[in-house]
Amino acid sequence: MSTILDIDGVNKTFGGLHALRDVHLKIEQGETHAIIGPNGAGKSTLLNCCIGRLIPDSGSVTFDGNNMIGMKAHDINHAGMVRVFQTPEIFPDLDLLQNVMIPALAKREGTFSFNPFKTLAKEKAIHDEAMETLADFELDKFHNKLAGSISRGDKRRLELAMGLIQHPTLLLLDEPTAGMARHDTNRTIDLLKSEKMSNMTKVIIEHDMHVVFSLADRISVLARGHIIATGTPDEIKNDQKVKDAYLGEGDDE
Ligand SMILES: Nc1ncnc2c1ncn2[C@@H]1O[C@H](COP(=O)(O)OP(=O)(O)OP(=O)(O)O)[C@@H](O)[C@H]1O
Ligand SMILES: [Mg+2]
Repeated sequence: MSTILDIDGVNKTFGGLHALRDVHLKIEQGETHAIIGPNGAGKSTLLNCCIGRLIPDSGSVTFDGNNMIGMKAHDINHAGMVRVFQTPEIFPDLDLLQNVMIPALAKREGTFSFNPFKTLAKEKAIHDEAMETLADFELDKFHNKLAGSISRGDKRRLELAMGLIQHPTLLLLDEPTAGMARHDTNRTIDLLKSEKMSNMTKVIIEHDMHVVFSLADRISVLARGHIIATGTPDEIKNDQKVKDAYLGEGDDE
């Protein structure tokens, strides 16, 4: 296996708050790697440092052999590291089909500086792929509905579709099932395990342990800005530091 993302000694502070402390983490090609930890542990901050939304105070982030520090978020996205956000970032006033076509067009053009409406009308290949992707996510029946009008679970799946259509090398998912009912959560698990997505390298931040243990090949545990353990699901379940910091809370097992 080769390392696709190498986070090396990353520190990030916000004023007096040390949100990330000397974080080292290697993501291997093809794996699904879950990052878990209590609220405020620094999980989203770590992802933001990888995708160019935040600049670490020190340390390096190497993706596919290239240093990402200082690169603009859209260039990192174009390089193949795609993040699906904790709060869905969709275009609420466009329909679902347009929502999925726009990232596909942006990926092809290498920029968002194009007239999406003019281009959308002409792009049959991208239109067809967008419809197919919506169908994979069981959203095709809503393709002409406004994205702002669909349920929260459907919005999250729409955002996943918008990520997938960019054919990412590495997909970063920040709480992909947050706010979903169990039925929608299970559908999302099935999608992430489906043939189209199972071989894609994924980093998943999740609080729902059912999701984590259903999907993860390896798990890292972040607590107060530190990675306190990395291992297989079984290793993590049996790690005393993890039980103390997170999993064991209120649990006698
Ligand atoms: N832009 C910011 N400015 C100031 N403080 C921030 C900022 N972003 C995050 N923080 C703080 O950094 C710490 C880590 O936040 P972060 O959002 O990374 O946690 P998290 O592990 O993703 O939590 P959750 O599970 O609740 O999503 C928290 O104490 C948070 O309040
Ligand atoms: Mg978060």
